Amino acid sequence: MISDNLTPSRPDITALPVERVAHLLRVSPKAELHVHIEGTLEPELIFALAQRNGVSLPYADVEALRKAYAFTDLQSFLDLYYAGCDVLRTEQDFFDLAWAYFQRAARDHVVRVEPFFDPQSHTARGVGFEVFMPAFIQAAQRAQDELGLSVGWIVSVLRHLSEEDALQMLDAAQPWLDHLIGIGLDSSERGNPPEKFSRVFARAREMGLHAVAHAGEEGPPAYVLGALDVLKVERIDHGVRASEDPALMQRLAREQMPLTVCPLSNVRLCVVPDLAQHNLPQLLAAGLKVTVNSDDPAYFGGYVNDNLTELFAAQPALGAAQAYALLRNSLEASFAADGDKALWIAQLDAQWRQAV
Ligand code: ADE
Ligand code: ZN
Repeated sequence: MISDNLTPSRPDITALPVERVAHLLRVSPKAELHVHIEGTLEPELIFALAQRNGVSLPYADVEALRKAYAFTDLQSFLDLYYAGCDVLRTEQDFFDLAWAYFQRAARDHVVRVEPFFDPQSHTARGVGFEVFMPAFIQAAQRAQDELGLSVGWIVSVLRHLSEEDALQMLDAAQPWLDHLIGIGLDSSERGNPPEKFSRVFARAREMGLHAVAHAGEEGPPAYVLGALDVLKVERIDHGVRASEDPALMQRLAREQMPLTVCPLSNVRLCVVPDLAQHNLPQLLAAGLKVTVNSDDPAYFGGYVNDNLTELFAAQPALGAAQAYALLRNSLEASFAADGDKALWIAQLDAQWRQAV
C-alpha cells in the first residue's frame, strides 16, 4: 500500500498505532545532523581520561559531576562543556571519544552522522589538528567498516572568539580538507551575530565546504536571516526562534531550508519550558524541513532516539506522518552522496511499508 496525502510513493501510514510509531522511530534508518563530538563526552569517560592523563577534576565522582549538569541557559552549559574538554589530550583520547559515540549512534540505527568538532577549544590548550584529526579519521573509517555508519566531519567556529582566530583555525584545517564536509558556527549566540564571520564563511565555501550555522537557539530571528543571507548556509542548526517571525517562517518553508532541532537540548538549556511545549509540531505543520537531533547527548540526557521518542510521548499532536517526515528529512538534509541518500530512503520506506 503506497498512498497518502503527501507523495504517491510514500507508505500509507495514517493508521499506525502509537506504540508502532514509537518502535519505528527507534529502528528506522536515520541521519544525525547536529551533534557536537565533545558533547558526547560522558562523565564516565571524563573520569577515565582524567585518570589516564593525570588531570585533577573538581568533582568527587561521576555522580557529583552529573549533578552539576543543571543548566540555566546556553552559557551555563558552555562553561562546563569547555571545562570537560580539558581531559582530551592525546590522539587516543579523541579516538576513544569518537568511537564510543559512533557505537552508541549505530545502536539508534543512525546510518549517517555529520558531527561538529570545535578545534579552537583544543588548539587554545596546545592540542593541535595533528592530534585530533588522525583520531577522527580513524574512528570514522572504523565506523564505516564495522558499523556501516557513514561519517562527515564539520569543523565548527567558536563565535565568542574573533574573526581573526577563526581565520587562523581555517588555515590550520586546510591540510585536512579531504576529511571535512562542512563548516559550522557554535558557542555563545547572543551578541555574536553571523555577520561577524562573513569572511570566514566566504573562504570556507571557496574551499568547497558546506555551510551550516547555529542560529535562533537563544538568538533572535534576525540571526537566522543573517545565517541565510550573509553566511549562505545550507542548514540552520536549531532555528526554533524562527517561529517568532511569520515572514521568516514562510521563507524557510518555501526554500525547504533544513532545521536541525534538538528538543532535549532546548529543554535543558531553558529555551523551552518542557517537551510538551516545544514548537517542533508547529514548525512541521508550517511546512518546514525539520529534523531531530541530540546536540550534546552526554549533557542533555539523551541520544537521538531518546529525543525522538520522548518528544512524541510528550506531544499527542505528533503521529505517524510526522515521524516518517522527520526521519526522511534527516536523510534528505544530509550532505552525503545522492546515491547513498536514495539507498537509505529506500530502506526507510521498505521498513515502513512492512509495518503497515
Ligand atoms: N556548542 C555545543 N553545543 C552547543 C549549542 N547547543 N549551542 C551553541 N554552541 C554549542
Ligand atoms: Zn549545537
